[in-house]
Amino acid sequence: MIRLEQVSKLYRTERIETVALHNVNLTIEEGELVSIMGPSGCGKSTLLHLMGLLDEPSQGEVEIDGETIDRRRRSDRELARLRNERVGFIFQQFHLIPDLSVADNVEIPLLYRKLSGKERRSLALAALDRVGLSSRTRHFPTQLSGGQQQRVAIARALAQNAKVILADEPVASLDPESSATVLESLRVAAAAGVAVIASLHQVHLATHYADRIIALRGGAVLQDAPTATFDPPAFAQIYDRTGERQVARSG
Ligand SMILES: Nc1ncnc2c1ncn2[C@@H]1O[C@H](COP(=O)(O)OP(=O)(O)OP(=O)(O)O)[C@@H](O)[C@H]1O
Ligand SMILES: [Mg+2]
Repeated sequence: MIRLEQVSKLYRTERIETVALHNVNLTIEEGELVSIMGPSGCGKSTLLHLMGLLDEPSQGEVEIDGETIDRRRRSDRELARLRNERVGFIFQQFHLIPDLSVADNVEIPLLYRKLSGKERRSLALAALDRVGLSSRTRHFPTQLSGGQQQRVAIARALAQNAKVILADEPVASLDPESSATVLESLRVAAAAGVAVIASLHQVHLATHYADRIIALRGGAVLQDAPTATFDPPAFAQIYDRTGERQVARSG
């Protein structure tokens, strides 16, 4: 579903050049729930942004659902269409529109499709049901808990029939109970065949919910294996030291 080949990402600011990702090779299949782990600055958000076509690699190739993403050959409009059709995003800070009801928020990506109002509503309600929010469809985002708001975002991705859901620290600002419900909803999405990639900091949540863990360090893949193969020493190694790698730019 997602393939990254020899992907590198450099950020340049003034005289500092940061290698945010370095020669990353990955394939993630549909139905997988993958946890991206690693210390602050190791490249988790950068990786999710590249997978979600929010940013472009400095080198290498990103492929989503069989389509190679090459910005030189694709217009911004075409990239926006690909994002809208294939990718759902869940961010740490809930990205819902406060003036719209829960159901209306879920319908947003469907507005770009040739559907009747009735069809849109029925897709939105079905998706909200799958994340356990049938009783909240007429509420407004501020009337929901943080975990419920995250589940609305997951419902929005399910309604749009996203092939890929990318979640950047989706439970970082949630209590344990809400975190569990959000991760259960991500599992629902994976069970429906979506490739789900979430950055998580909590080892116990990754162990419990993810099929596979990709650990980054200094922008490179340190470990990439089924969750069951990770033991406490392996997790300790992931968080060994900061993942930043900076080199002074010559010239
Ligand atoms: N827009 C940017 N401009 C310059 N450097 C950047 C930019 N975004 C990220 N970086 C650098 O790239 C590296 C990777 O950053 P990234 O945000 O991907 O890390 P992260 O693993 O998501 O960290 P955290 O756990 O703190 O969210 C860091 O060294 C960061 O300082
Ligand atoms: Mg981040």
